[in-house]
Amino acid sequence: MLRKDFIRNASLAAASVAFVPTKDLFAAKADAKVKMGIIGVGARGLGHLNLLLSREDVEVVCICDIDSKTLNSAKRIATKSGKKMPEIFTGDNYSWKTMLDKNKLDGIVIATPWEWHKEMIIGSLDAGIKYVGSEVIIGISLEDHWEVVRAAEKHKANVMMLENVCYRRDVMAVLNMVRQGVFGELIHLQGGYQHDLRDVKFNGGSEVEKGVEFGEKGYSEAHWRTEHSVHRNGDLYPTHGVGPIANYININRGNRFTSLCSFSSKNRGLHNYIVKNGGENHPNAKVNFKLGDVVTTSINCVNGETILLQHDTNLPRPYSLGFRVQGTEGLWMDVNKSIYIQDKSAKPDQWEDAKQWLDKYDHPLWQRWSKETAGAGHGGMDFFVIHALVESIKHKTPTPLDVYDAATWSAISPLSEKSIDLGCQTVEFPDFTGGNWMYRKPVFALTDNY
Ligand SMILES: NC(=O)c1ccc[n+]([C@@H]2O[C@H](COP(=O)([O-])OP(=O)(O)OC[C@H]3O[C@@H](n4cnc5c(N)ncnc54)[C@H](O)[C@@H]3O)[C@@H](O)[C@H]2O)c1
Repeated sequence: MLRKDFIRNASLAAASVAFVPTKDLFAAKADAKVKMGIIGVGARGLGHLNLLLSREDVEVVCICDIDSKTLNSAKRIATKSGKKMPEIFTGDNYSWKTMLDKNKLDGIVIATPWEWHKEMIIGSLDAGIKYVGSEVIIGISLEDHWEVVRAAEKHKANVMMLENVCYRRDVMAVLNMVRQGVFGELIHLQGGYQHDLRDVKFNGGSEVEKGVEFGEKGYSEAHWRTEHSVHRNGDLYPTHGVGPIANYININRGNRFTSLCSFSSKNRGLHNYIVKNGGENHPNAKVNFKLGDVVTTSINCVNGETILLQHDTNLPRPYSLGFRVQGTEGLWMDVNKSIYIQDKSAKPDQWEDAKQWLDKYDHPLWQRWSKETAGAGHGGMDFFVIHALVESIKHKTPTPLDVYDAATWSAISPLSEKSIDLGCQTVEFPDFTGGNWMYRKPVFALTDNY
């Protein structure tokens, strides 16, 4: 579809979606170069560093990490880019505070373990940074999420969770279809995080060594993420699944989550993996993991849609986020890469290959920027989160995913833990917007800018 048709359709067909004309978004004069810093250049942060260094409109001024090995990788990447070497801050867990005191930054990217995000987001806001891009999950407890929201409000600053799946090409094509009414009125949505993480949760202490170590002896996410599986039971990683869904049904923008209920299966996957690969006498074979292998969460929305999310990271399985978008006219499912739309699909009650639909409704953001996505992680979608953050800074506009989105999506973790703790009771979903969900308008991906 042509860009002008998309813009017209976005404004006409999706009555609830306010169209923001391109020229308004770009009314403010863009700053030529934005000064950025990064906290955490591990597996994820190095990808963000690469993307930031590849942009002519960004200067990466400073980097902080506590691990010398990964800092060496960061320095190699910076050298290769031919750009000025960022100042490196390291030494202890709070070196990032020194970095923020010494540098006046336009924006910051945080890619550290989950338990650091709240403190680093709020610390960045307190240091005067107006654009904070945090990797997914912005807090551990429900109160953490409120604290981040209150801090962003107090500082009148932007906190964008860098939820890249919102920008996946098929996910965006489906967003385009939703807004053009292809599925009719949406009724039910599904998604989740279904990813065999056993060799992420365990390794032999380095990038190349397989093993069953975690914690002090683990490398990268095995160093910290596995502890969450020991101590917590809930949907620990909801944002990849719920982010796209929230955009489809305008959560916090005319709609909101009202209640949530989670169920957890028994757990076998992590223990079996340790025994299989480390032997039953390995000390980790004695660890009691709290996280159920499959955690299922249902969420109710004020406008009547239901959502089903699944967190499934401990068992052998191919990767799938398990999307299903179902309305009064038909549905899309990503597992079988299929679509069915009544009266339009070739045969009644039979799946149709989704490809031709996804191509036809390819989102204008992808049409415009696909060349730039080449080489960016996760099939190119990582380009868009950094692009959106940087362009928002340059144009002094709110980020397209904001602190209310971040808090709402990420708070599913503590809420699902609470529900399971209470014997799978339904718990109330807090309204982080304080009632403003009724007045806020959709802003995500209404143009082909960012
Ligand atoms: N969106 C995605 O597709 C995606 C993919 C992978 C990871 N992530 C997220 O990115 C974040 C980081 O994950 P990762 O895989 O890079 O983990 P990682 O363990 O490889 O990297 C984390 C880095 O943070 C550093 N760090 C820890 N504490 C610090 C502190 N106090 N000060 C400075 N640096 C500190 C570590 O030394 C490490 O280099 C997590 O939130 C994770 O969920 C997102």
